[in-house]
Amino acid sequence: MTRTYSILIVCLGNICRSPTAEGVLRARLAEAGLLPAVHLDSAATGDSHIGSAPDPRAIDCALRHGVDISGLRARRLVYDDFENFDLLLCADRTILHETRIRKPRTAHVDVALMLDWAGIGNKDIPDPYYGGARDFDRAFKLIDAAAAGIVARLHEGRH
Ligand code: 4NP
Repeated sequence: MTRTYSILIVCLGNICRSPTAEGVLRARLAEAGLLPAVHLDSAATGDSHIGSAPDPRAIDCALRHGVDISGLRARRLVYDDFENFDLLLCADRTILHETRIRKPRTAHVDVALMLDWAGIGNKDIPDPYYGGARDFDRAFKLIDAAAAGIVARLHEGRH
């Protein structure tokens, strides 16, 4: 890659799936030596948790897999994100729909489903917020697989 490619990961609250994905993807990109070429961030379509740290269950789950996301803070998806990022990756199809509705007509940003863009299939990362530790583990596994697919795709320059 010759220039910085920017990716924003989007979910409903920006306290469970998208901060986990931001942390895991940053770790995997660093391992692959791609981090200097990629700018990463995450945001929420909803505004219930703006300014909050990730959910403690998401922090614990990521830590058990060696990734520290405790320093991240939730923020809202804003108009400028559609101008400033190359790619918006959405956690599920509801978020994908909502994000596409908000996309200004003039914006050139790609908006895609995260697992789909990663080559894993047209599938959601289920929201673990109302679930238990097993739901967070399940989401983590999907996110980790997505991160591997995203790194491979960026490595091959397919973006
Ligand atoms: P996330 O999970 O979208 O993965 O951050 C959620 C967090 C909070 C809520 C829903 C989903 N909520 O309804 O407050």
